[in-house]
Amino acid sequence: MKTVNILMVCLGNICRSPLAEGVLASKLDPQLFTVDSAGTAAYHTGSAPDRRSQQVALKYGIEIGHQQARPFEQADFDRFDHIFVMDRSNYINLKALQPTKEQWEKVELLCQNQEVPDPYYGDNDGFERVYQMIDQATDRIVKEVNPYEK
Ligand code: 4NP
Repeated sequence: MKTVNILMVCLGNICRSPLAEGVLASKLDPQLFTVDSAGTAAYHTGSAPDRRSQQVALKYGIEIGHQQARPFEQADFDRFDHIFVMDRSNYINLKALQPTKEQWEKVELLCQNQEVPDPYYGDNDGFERVYQMIDQATDRIVKEVNPYEK
């Protein structure tokens, strides 16, 4: 069966998008949906999520420690049906890859008109805030992609 494929994108793929991947995946049937994440930069390729992202995920019962950072690839524009970016700089970085019109239509800000702030240089409160924003946005996405979900 063809799954609906959803990609979460941030800069490093160690703070925000791994958390977004884990939170959304926890709300969807893995037989029907594939959820992945990637970074627009390759600095952290192969790294596990930042410990603070792992901690806030675990606080809400979600295990993300197995994930490994990877860079966004051009082929991701075709592999995924929906591509959610955390902030406008992620959006600009993907646009710079010159996607086709059809590919570009898949890309949107996770929180619509709001950016998920980069928590990397902040404290644990920043990660909690990021979690709350992702939790709300993913509730909305679940309703959009899976209208039968309660
Ligand atoms: P992320 O956060 O984009 O949410 O994964 C960042 C992680 C690392 C860096 C920047 C943002 N960095 O500059 O290394």
